[in-house]
Amino acid sequence: MSVLRGNQGPRVKAVPATAAGYDTITIDPLTPIIGAEIGGVDLARPGNRQLDEIHRALAAHQVIFFRDQDLTQEQQLAFGRQFGPLHIHPAAPHAPGHPELMVIHADKDSPRANGENWHSDVSCDPEPPMGSILYIRTCPPRGGDTLFASMYAAYDALSERMQRYLEGLTALHDGEPVYRGLYANYGVADKTDYPRAEHPVVRTHPVTGRKALYVNRGFTRRILGIPRDESEGVLRYLYEHMENPLFQCRFRWRTNSVAFWDNRCVQHHALWDYWPETRSGFRVTVRGERPV
Ligand code: SIN
Repeated sequence: MSVLRGNQGPRVKAVPATAAGYDTITIDPLTPIIGAEIGGVDLARPGNRQLDEIHRALAAHQVIFFRDQDLTQEQQLAFGRQFGPLHIHPAAPHAPGHPELMVIHADKDSPRANGENWHSDVSCDPEPPMGSILYIRTCPPRGGDTLFASMYAAYDALSERMQRYLEGLTALHDGEPVYRGLYANYGVADKTDYPRAEHPVVRTHPVTGRKALYVNRGFTRRILGIPRDESEGVLRYLYEHMENPLFQCRFRWRTNSVAFWDNRCVQHHALWDYWPETRSGFRVTVRGERPV
């Protein structure tokens, strides 16, 4: 690990730029901080050693990308199951007969597109998803990129005073303001209730042991146990801080690309700059555990 800046700027740790230990896949990092394109693997038929190396690449780079994949719905689901049981979205539409295959779609008639705000997927669940695997089949000619931000880097760059202040604080995450009414145009009716949960503001990743910020603009309503205006001020500061481009990578989709991100240490933001063009695919989401 190396420190990129001196005393004045944010302290950011780079992922070691080495391909050592990867024999069955290739790794091409997008930035020193976050993101890598993985080559040499057919996700429809990954070998056991490839799966092990994909696990390790995800842990190291936090979001990984694959190009030119040709997957059936069943193959995308089977790839997701290699990482754990699958999550069913509490509100979004899914592919017919496959509740675990969430539809990601926007076209000229859409009033909105998925994920147009910084968030960690379904962080309002008591056990939020560990990871999400998005397969885009239809791309607009230009635009529709997704931004990913490392919440390890955002945490590491805080002053030790701020890190100490946040330690032990919890925040309320609520799905209702986000999901109610959101999918009406897809024929998905409002639910009678929506997930909400309290999670630590700083969580420890169960695989890497690294600390990551775990509040997001999408779902976090307030920090608990401190005055409401203090919570608003601290959250506003953290959101601005974590959106520093230094912590980000930007993925330019092509038809048949796959992105696999780790929701425990990454937030993402999908850009809807391609209206009236169509962007379409499916997301498989892997279940996670209660953040600690
Ligand atoms: C999402 O899963 O939040 C959408 C991401 C994307 O469409 O790029």
